[in-house]
Amino acid sequence: MNRYTNQQIADLVRPDRVHRAVYADPALFALEMKRIFGRAWLALGHESQVATPGAFFTTHMAAEPVIVVRDLKGEIRVLINRCTHRGPLVCHEARGETRQFVCPYHGWTFEPSGELRFVPMESGYAGGVCGRPDLALARVPRVASYRGFIFASMAPEGESLADFLGPIASSYDDMVDRAPAGEVEVAGGMFRHAYNGNWKLVLENHIDTVHPAFVHQSSVHAAREQPDSLATSTAAEIQIRQMRQNGAPPAVWERLGIFAGPNGHGYMGDYHSDDRLVVAMANPIFAEYRAALSARVGAERATEILSNHRFNTIVYPNCSFMSQFRQYRIVQPIAVDRTIVNTFSFRLKGAPDAMFRDTVAFANVVNGTASEVLTDDLEVYERAQRGLSSGQVDWVYLGRGLGGDVPDSPGLRRGGQGTSELPMRNQFEAWSRYMTADSEGGE
Ligand code: FES
Ligand SMILES: [Fe+2]
Repeated sequence: MNRYTNQQIADLVRPDRVHRAVYADPALFALEMKRIFGRAWLALGHESQVATPGAFFTTHMAAEPVIVVRDLKGEIRVLINRCTHRGPLVCHEARGETRQFVCPYHGWTFEPSGELRFVPMESGYAGGVCGRPDLALARVPRVASYRGFIFASMAPEGESLADFLGPIASSYDDMVDRAPAGEVEVAGGMFRHAYNGNWKLVLENHIDTVHPAFVHQSSVHAAREQPDSLATSTAAEIQIRQMRQNGAPPAVWERLGIFAGPNGHGYMGDYHSDDRLVVAMANPIFAEYRAALSARVGAERATEILSNHRFNTIVYPNCSFMSQFRQYRIVQPIAVDRTIVNTFSFRLKGAPDAMFRDTVAFANVVNGTASEVLTDDLEVYERAQRGLSSGQVDWVYLGRGLGGDVPDSPGLRRGGQGTSELPMRNQFEAWSRYMTADSEGGE
């Protein structure tokens, strides 16, 4: 039952602070699933995961289990993974390729387009049931892709995906333009981690430039103790450079570009330049990759592409990705205090194979379940959730850099300092808008 009026919800978000209830109240979480996750475009994955007719993967849109599938005509569909007979999941596999989805309960058989094709002992239904539109697997009403990345929205109407992304689409361009063949594809496995904390904590943390020196202190110290000469293998080099970078002096963080876009999106620029991290300019693999990219787009354009040092991009409310490092993280809220994050790595088509090994090495350092970096973040999310669940102190203070924002290119604001909490404030502006858009008292 919704016990919040729109005014009460709006009062939870102030210019420089938010009420702890936004992280801890199950009633608000239930409303978020409806009003934010039920309305926004949600990142689901990439077209390379459904490359051929009949290819599919299963995922969730908030609590809703869905199947993302390429139907036999080649169209990408997002189907509600629920049998229209008596309700079970029709598909239990994580991914695969099929000509049909067969419900395990009584064998109703659906086409990849969702249509009900076959029902055992159909004669028991007067007039038959096959082909009835109301008994097809329900379709998520809006599905769209940008540069191969698949999104869907439960809302039958609303802004286009292009309008939803606005200038943040440039982060997708950054990821794809880096591929010499002009395309990327999901490759390797997937990292899944879960934490006992609210879904917003990860989206805030990925664009929080103050925390690394503190949360990741132990790994910074460990990396500093390593001699530089250890960095002879790419994987070791990546690990040491990444960890040392987290311990950069405050002046470096203050110089970063921190950007806020529409709908709660944002990104962090300038964090890692290529000469500081993974694809070090002297690396022969990188030289080969650069040559392949230059051959396709010209040396000048290749330099332009590789000079973009964008780090984390947040596509609110369910995605955080690293275009420069080919990492795509999809956030799935489970409960007010439970969240799953699935991380995918991408291969740059046309790049040397060894570039993908760098990608996997980076994934292991930053997003792997045994990562020395990620584990620190997960620990702090859980401590935050425990603190926010205490009832004695109401407000969370987000005032760093308030009032210092400067307009940037169209649709973007830049933090007046690289450690500004502008991205968090921006996320809550979107939160408030989504959460109060329904008419008063609506569920
Ligand atoms: S519940 Fe699916 S076939 Fe009966
Ligand atoms: Fe972190």
